[in-house]
Amino acid sequence: MPRKEMLIMRMYDLILKKRNGGKLSEEEISYMVEGFTAGEIPDYQMAAMMMAVYFTGMDGEETLHLTMAMAHSGDMLDLSGIRGVKVDKHSTGGVGDKTSLALAPMVAACGIKVAKMSGRGLGHTGGTIDKLESFPGFNTGISEKTFMENVNRIGIAIMGQTADLAPADKKLYALRDVTATVDNMSLIASSIMSKKLASGADAIVLDVKTGSGAFMKDEKDARALAEEMVKLGKNAGRKTAAVISDMDEPLGYAVGNALEVKEAIDTLRGKGPEDFVKLCLTLGSHMVVAGGMAKSAAEAEEKLRQVIADGSALRKLADFVEAQGGDREAVYRTELLPQAAYREEIPSPQAGYVERIVCDEVGVCSLMLGGGRETKESPIDLSVGLVLRKKVGDYVEKGETLAVMHGNDREKMKAAAKRFTDSYKFSQKPVAKRPLIKAVIE
Ligand code: URA
Repeated sequence: MPRKEMLIMRMYDLILKKRNGGKLSEEEISYMVEGFTAGEIPDYQMAAMMMAVYFTGMDGEETLHLTMAMAHSGDMLDLSGIRGVKVDKHSTGGVGDKTSLALAPMVAACGIKVAKMSGRGLGHTGGTIDKLESFPGFNTGISEKTFMENVNRIGIAIMGQTADLAPADKKLYALRDVTATVDNMSLIASSIMSKKLASGADAIVLDVKTGSGAFMKDEKDARALAEEMVKLGKNAGRKTAAVISDMDEPLGYAVGNALEVKEAIDTLRGKGPEDFVKLCLTLGSHMVVAGGMAKSAAEAEEKLRQVIADGSALRKLADFVEAQGGDREAVYRTELLPQAAYREEIPSPQAGYVERIVCDEVGVCSLMLGGGRETKESPIDLSVGLVLRKKVGDYVEKGETLAVMHGNDREKMKAAAKRFTDSYKFSQKPVAKRPLIKAVIE
């Protein structure tokens, strides 16, 4: 786009247009993304634009232009130096979603090259990069060269988004996190797919969450998001599939950074929660088939079960942690992970079957304990969170423990405990467990 034409655009006019429900052109979107990346468009104008998009939406063309503009806002990684099919996985975000921590080593132990770029916590959800930092010494800021070497050598590397990779998304992600503008289909699709396209994997498997703990609460919206992202991936020539999975209650039992790392390790030891194991096997089978290591999902699943049973997935995690500067011992001795000073049991206020858990509220409780960011710059407390004892369908007696809370501040714990208890709804009649996998879009 000629610079002269760009210069006569004004961000104010674009905000006004979008606020009034107008459609932004490719040039307008490029102007906005380039200007924001270069620091010429300030946060407050972009925040206003995000809120306008949140309320009036973007159509498929605008979403495509936004995705491509963000993907090209920095370097496009060239992974051709890595031998074999490179597979990446991404979740739209949820509560207790520690999937990558177990899944990446499982898949890598099956011989797949996992070259993954992950994010930090967003809104009420946690992020893989924060969780990985629970391993003492772990470096998520490795160079591109180390990233490639590690994938070639041990089959797995995970890094945070570098300043040069989809920088527009990096800035926008941080802005959306603190301005209540995360849960919009076009913004999520473009955020995820711009990173995935820029980070160069050949195949992408998406975990699209739906339910009260997801950004897309409604299954219909989650399906539309999954279809949009699969379309964006295919348009860009990448093998892309999406699994729609339930996030109406936390995944597994642990919520909170180091607590989730421990649960992922338990899973690689063959002691994972049923729902979490199921999700890892479903996503993993797609990755193993896409990477050419199995002909069918059933064969892939068998391989994945095998690498847990023979300990090779756990060893792969330790190798990966060590290769990125972390303490491999913490994989075998989880007491080396960050530990909170206090543990408190939260009793059930009544007897009955757990009918519902308002899942995003559980995420917020973890944030209240210090497990998330209040502002773009705030640090997080990796040790805090909750370990649930009761999930939907379970029977509980009055006073029996619903969860164990891990915290470092008694005042925060008191407030979080109240909110946590309120997130549980009970029924006197038995309640069915929720199906985890809703659909697969290929
Ligand atoms: N994950 C992302 O990377 N971006 C979003 O907008 C939501 C989830």
